[in-house]
Amino acid sequence: MRYLIDCDPGADDVMALLYAMKREEMDIRGIITVSGNVPIDKVTYNACGVLKLTGRRIPVCQGSPAPLVKKAFSASDVHGDSGIGPMKLPDGRENLVHQNFIDFYMEKLFESEEKTTIIATGPMTNLALLVKVHPESMKRIERVVFMGGAYNEGNVTPYAEFNAYVDPEAYKILFDTDIRMVMVGLDATHMSLLKLEEIEALELHTKPGKFMKDLLTWYCKNVMSVYGYAGAHMHDPSAIMYITNPEIFTSFESTLDISTSDDLTRAKILVNKRSSKKNVTVLSSLDNEMFKKEFFKTLYKYDG
Ligand code: BDR
Ligand code: CA
Repeated sequence: MRYLIDCDPGADDVMALLYAMKREEMDIRGIITVSGNVPIDKVTYNACGVLKLTGRRIPVCQGSPAPLVKKAFSASDVHGDSGIGPMKLPDGRENLVHQNFIDFYMEKLFESEEKTTIIATGPMTNLALLVKVHPESMKRIERVVFMGGAYNEGNVTPYAEFNAYVDPEAYKILFDTDIRMVMVGLDATHMSLLKLEEIEALELHTKPGKFMKDLLTWYCKNVMSVYGYAGAHMHDPSAIMYITNPEIFTSFESTLDISTSDDLTRAKILVNKRSSKKNVTVLSSLDNEMFKKEFFKTLYKYDG
């Protein structure tokens, strides 16, 4: 299956990419970046850096520098100013293609007879612009699996999750289409939890393996001290996990809406089970033991 990954790395986006790079069954045709956790130049550097670290060549295209309507809103408290705390990735910008991101999407979606699945682990600004500029692109999209949103509790506000909160207008554009989507929201991802002692027990010694262990360790300590969590939630890796191991999740079918009001409901996800249109699979839980088993088994591939 063909995949494009649209992301804002960001610590957990980097973890998702490192996990995806060792799932060789995934045919990743390109990576598109978007302003989110940190500014666009930094997320682009980090996406390219993961490729350098893992010795992969995949085209990376820089996407939108700002949300559709509002100003950029970052998450440097969680991810640090560079997006990956004190960690440093090598410069892999030889992977960068100097192309407009909408043209890049069109090229990748139309270069094959086979439809492409898009995995979005950042705000969905790029995708909203794509379907507005080129509505014909929608027929080439198999589905959009996106990490974002929460139909229960949010993480930026009591009602809104970060990726949705950065660009709810983009979510609204996508929710109003008939594209098949999977929402990997906080309702499920908050059930994934790696404890510090589980991370510290990982025996990873190659460069990418050790990088992953150090990043997990820093991120875990940071979210424990900033938010008082019991460990690290694997938000973005869950979106890739849904592709590789859908059996560990439970879900229901619905259509979704989102509040774009400028009040305390902004970016609140609304589940509408009454609609006859049911184009979104909404994930409602995951099995953390199975998640950890699959995640760690895949990371150990870095050490042979
Ligand atoms: C999401 O917000 C970002 O900070 C993370 O990278 C993840 O995509 C979790 O709410
Ligand atoms: Ca992200």
